[in-house]
Parts: sequence; C-alpha cells; structure tokens
Amino acid sequence: MDRNTMFDLGGQVAFVTGAAKGLGLAMAEIVAQSGARVVMTDIDPDALTASVERLAGQGLDVRGEIVDVADTDRLARAINDAARRLGRLDVVFANAGISAGPGPLTDAGSLAQVDLDRWNRLLQINLTSVFVTIRTAAAQMIKQRSGRLIVTASVAGLRGERMCGYAYAATKAAVSNLVRQSSIELSPHNVTINAIAPGPFLTDIGQGRLHDPEVAAGFTRDVPMGRLGQPDEIKGLALLLASPASSYITGAVIPVDGGASAS
Ligand SMILES: NC(=O)c1ccc[n+]([C@@H]2O[C@H](COP(=O)([O-])OP(=O)(O)OC[C@H]3O[C@@H](n4cnc5c(N)ncnc54)[C@H](O)[C@@H]3O)[C@@H](O)[C@H]2O)c1
Repeated sequence: MDRNTMFDLGGQVAFVTGAAKGLGLAMAEIVAQSGARVVMTDIDPDALTASVERLAGQGLDVRGEIVDVADTDRLARAINDAARRLGRLDVVFANAGISAGPGPLTDAGSLAQVDLDRWNRLLQINLTSVFVTIRTAAAQMIKQRSGRLIVTASVAGLRGERMCGYAYAATKAAVSNLVRQSSIELSPHNVTINAIAPGPFLTDIGQGRLHDPEVAAGFTRDVPMGRLGQPDEIKGLALLLASPASSYITGAVIPVDGGASAS
C-alpha cells in the first residue's frame, strides 16, 4: 500500500445515515472527495436536498434519499437497494442519532423526570437502528468479503457526561460495545467495524443547543483543548476508518474529543 492507494475509495460505494447536516455530512463529503459514490440518507428533505446539491456542485458522485432510521424495515430496504442499484456496498456510516435532552443535574434530565416515551425513541434511533444498519450492511459485505462499517458513538458513552441525558449516555455506551461484539463475527470475513466517539462538536444536535454559549461552555469544561470540535475535524478519522489504510483496525472505539476522554 502506498500513500496514494491508502486513502483511495475510487470505485467504492458508501451509504451514510443522518447525512444532511453535521458530522454525517462531513463523513459523506470526505468519502465522496476520496472517490466513493455516496448514498446520503436523512429524515430532513430540505437540508438533504441542499447538501446533496452542494456536494454534486463540487463534481462529487452523491445522491440523496429520505430514510427515517426509526423505520427499520425502510432502513434495511434502503441499504439493500443501494447495494443492488450501485452494484456493491463498501463503506457504511451508521451515524444518525438524536439528543436525549439535558443532563442529570437538571430537573428535566433527572432520574425522576426522564420520560419513558422519549427513552424508547432514543433506544430505537440511537441503538436499534444502528444494529439493523450493521446487520443489513454486514450481510452484503460478507458476500463481497470486504467492507468498512463505522458507527458514530460518543465520549458520553465512554464515561459519565453531566451535559447529556440518560438515554443518550446509555445508547452510546451500548453502540460502542455492539461494535466490539460484532467485530468478533465480522473479522474472519474481512469486514471491519469501528466506532468514532466524538466529544462535543458544533452541530445542530439537540435543537441547536450547542450554539448557546452557556451550553457550549458546559460541554467544553472537561475538554482540555477548551473548545468545541468543528464538523470538518471528524473527517480525518472518518476517512481512515473507511479506507484501505485501516485494514488491521477493527472493534475499536476511537475518540475525537480534544482530549476529553483522557482527562
Ligand atoms: N455534535 C456532537 O457534539 C456529538 C457528539 C457525540 C456524538 N454525536 C453523534 O453524532 C451523530 C450526528 O449528530 P450531529 O451532531 O451531526 O447532529 P445533527 O443534528 O447536526 O445531524 C444529525 C442528522 O441526522 C438526521 N436525523 C435525525 N433523526 C433522524 C432519523 N430518525 N433518521 C434519519 N436521519 C435522522 C438529522 O436530520 C440531521 O441531518 C449522532 O449520532 C450524534 O449522537 C454528536
């Protein structure tokens, strides 16, 4: 492998959930710029159209599709259709996820107040949909004897995080171990699966609450670099885990967090 081929995704097909904005958009953009044909899926039609048009305007090979990951039958169909239409499936980002609202030191986020309907919705979107994405994509990748699965976890799944809600912390911990567990089954098939565990990034997650300076200050309190990440800063690890360069990395949960998980 030389430095030209290490990060080359030419001829490959990628599928990204939650790709209209934020981290998923950055992931879609970097793999498209590296040569992949990319299926960008999201629940938000306006944001998806705008992002697909922007990337296509750069000459990138992208298409958008409305997929609500909470509808797991629809999600599985979309993954299978992408593989059938484009002839293969090489890279899948299970990225879509939502916030559980405020953390345990607030009234609304306390043990007593957590709403079980919202808890169950988090389980469906942040955990069950990731399982279904892995299972569906893996079936195709096992047939090909190659593939890269990348799950967006969180540092809030590696340790307690006072700014995040219970269901968020629990589901992000769960997907981290889902990655480790499925690497056992997928490794003999030459399919890798890893998780990116972001620290706080400036995106629209949680109704844009990270744009509020007070909330941002709460999130960056435990970040040694003392600032939020920018979506562009997820691209390096996203490309590494999607590319031939990561051929011997699997079952790993890797933070991108300005040092938060080290402190
Ligand atoms: N921003 C952070 O600080 C941070 C930190 C750690 C982990 N994460 C994780 O990163 C991932 C992406 O979040 P983000 O910060 O980019 O947020 P974001 O809100 O900016 O983007 C998320 C995208 O997912 C889409 N989406 C939401 N629900 C969906 C559904 N049911 N089906 C399909 N698409 C859906 C949204 O429309 C949006 O385009 C999430 O899994 C999140 O938990 C974010």
